[in-house]
Amino acid sequence: MSASASMSRAAVHKLGILLSGRGSNFLAIARSIEIGSLHGLAEIAVVIANVEDAPGLAAARSLGLPTELLVSKGRRRVDHDADVAARLRHHGVDFVILAGYMRLLSPEFIAAFPNKILNIHPSLLPAFPGLDAQTQAFDYGCKVAGCTVHFVDEHLDHGVIILQRVIHVHETDDAHTLAERILIEEHQAYPEAILRVVSGKYGFAGRRYVLNPEA
Ligand code: GAR
Repeated sequence: MSASASMSRAAVHKLGILLSGRGSNFLAIARSIEIGSLHGLAEIAVVIANVEDAPGLAAARSLGLPTELLVSKGRRRVDHDADVAARLRHHGVDFVILAGYMRLLSPEFIAAFPNKILNIHPSLLPAFPGLDAQTQAFDYGCKVAGCTVHFVDEHLDHGVIILQRVIHVHETDDAHTLAERILIEEHQAYPEAILRVVSGKYGFAGRRYVLNPEA
């Protein structure tokens, strides 16, 4: 390849995935990268789990990805997060992707990766932050539900929204079927949001994510 061709090639952003459980969102992201949906703009540099028997960790190992297990149980948040940040740095990570990472992050960690941490949440934020969001929406009697991908700030499920996907709640739904259908949307939403962010053509207007901040 000529020098000019290699210089014009866009940078490949390194993703650091943090997970605690099943890992289906992580697998959707990995699949999107594999089939080229992220246009070669991102690769998974490391998958870090804070729970030893997280199925997502086993899945990452079987895909041959670099993995780390940093058990958080019983540790001070700030100490655990400092170790996670150090490992992310070691792997050259520039975007931190929370994929079912069921642990609050310390302000120090968030400050270490400003506007570089993404999360997915199974509700249409700002409705129903916290645990069991799908059941919260179902029990509330919502007629629409969905998922949100957002930047992470120091408040729970709160930062700037990158995108949302909406579904109708059916008469025949229960909380379980609703969660299943939201998960299908999550698997579309997260790779799409990551593509938007690694493409870099966006800015902020207050707390709005805007594609063309100059317009
Ligand atoms: C997903 O539904 C995700 O939105 C949710 O945990 C699940 C993880 O599933 N995250 C939160 O509720 C964060 N507040 P997965 O391990 O199969 O990706």
